[in-house]
Amino acid sequence: MKDESAFADLAFEDVEIPSTMDYQTVDPARIPADAYTSETYAKIENEKLWGMVWQAACRIEEIPEIGDYVTYDIMDESIILVRTGEDSIKAYYNVCQHRGRRLTEGAGNARQFVCGFHGWRWKITGESTFVNDRKGYGDCLTDENTALETVHCDTWGGWVWINMDPDCEPLLDYLQPAARLLGPYELDKMRYRWRQWLYFPCNWKTALEAFNESHHAAITHPQLSKWGGTSFYTCWSEGKHAWHGPGVSDGPWRAGGKTVDFEDNRQEVTWDARKMVAEQLHAIMEGVNSCTTDTFLNAADRLVDELPEGTEPGAVMAHLSQSAMADDAARGVDWPQIDPAHQLEAGHDWHIFPNNVILHGISFALCYRSRPNGSDPNSCIFEVYVLERYPEGQEPKTEWDFVPDPADKRWPEVLQQDFANMPEVQRGMKSRGFKGARPNPRQEVAVLHFHKTLSEYIGLGAPEPIE
Ligand code: FES
Ligand SMILES: [Fe+2]
Repeated sequence: MKDESAFADLAFEDVEIPSTMDYQTVDPARIPADAYTSETYAKIENEKLWGMVWQAACRIEEIPEIGDYVTYDIMDESIILVRTGEDSIKAYYNVCQHRGRRLTEGAGNARQFVCGFHGWRWKITGESTFVNDRKGYGDCLTDENTALETVHCDTWGGWVWINMDPDCEPLLDYLQPAARLLGPYELDKMRYRWRQWLYFPCNWKTALEAFNESHHAAITHPQLSKWGGTSFYTCWSEGKHAWHGPGVSDGPWRAGGKTVDFEDNRQEVTWDARKMVAEQLHAIMEGVNSCTTDTFLNAADRLVDELPEGTEPGAVMAHLSQSAMADDAARGVDWPQIDPAHQLEAGHDWHIFPNNVILHGISFALCYRSRPNGSDPNSCIFEVYVLERYPEGQEPKTEWDFVPDPADKRWPEVLQQDFANMPEVQRGMKSRGFKGARPNPRQEVAVLHFHKTLSEYIGLGAPEPIE
């Protein structure tokens, strides 16, 4: 039997929040379980959400050459994204205009799209080039009514985005203020370092919501509390989107190099900040395989040689940042120059409505994308990918790796811990004993804001007062 007592020492008392700290709160509310479990809700989502929103369909780097295409499947739809010119990408519904056969699947390079049923053909620019026995139709077929059906598409941040709503607002308007706040990080200049995906036996929102809050971190990822956990995360809703980030920490950043030892009855520990930073960064790389880079690790390993003992944590971090920036510049990776005030304003862990999470850094990003697997509310496709800035020409070649077992060693430990919660949440939410989710009104604002926005799109499932 699992020993639950190990968690007892990790339970935080009520957090002291400095009176100077700015943070958002929302009204306490309950999210109906139907939003996660009901087939009817999923059907309405299909129509009123997925048909109306901008969705990150792929990275631009996946289709570098003319004719390169990928397909993006969402619910019952499939969309082809194809490069038609050096600066031009188009999106089409992946369906034959004769009798509806899917035209293609996966990714590849095409000079034309050919239907495998009766051979109708199209240029990659969408114009029909062949209709089998066209004469049989008389003169009713035109260039317009035989062309592939287009879908709105645009680019931002290195992604290709699609929107199936013919009257959709411009992508940049939809993304604000996230596009403005994240713009200086030049996500478009980052490239895949690794990318993996799997199916989960849970709703796509259950999966996503394991990553748009960090309120769970101390309990789900206790090993990361070794250097002092963050005990209060601030959250901000931003348009349709939201972000969260560390607000109050037990860690040495705010406590002058002191923290408590969770493995030793919360005794106060004074860290050598130089060693602690290196240890922490290595643990993050091992635990998440992201959220830092080899450049940072190498610079962190030199801290004990480059700084005197007793250097304050703030000075250690500043030195680390300068060293890593210089090391990267020497190998041809120039960091964007971002004003510190903007860095604060730009937050940390973004939920881009509806289904993307981006944890951005100065030269890297960890991203998640969650979407329904067909029309089953209990199944989703979940993708994790890591981006990084590379010297030009040294970007790694990557593919989407399907890693179906959430306990597979190719999934880093921290993600395995998150993954373990998701199916259990989905099972639990079907209980007669569950009356709806009650996200914390100041540490899980992104979850509540998500459902508020979602309910505005689909007309039901709005968070209700807790009684
Ligand atoms: S369904 Fe495509 S050519 Fe007939
Ligand atoms: Fe987590």
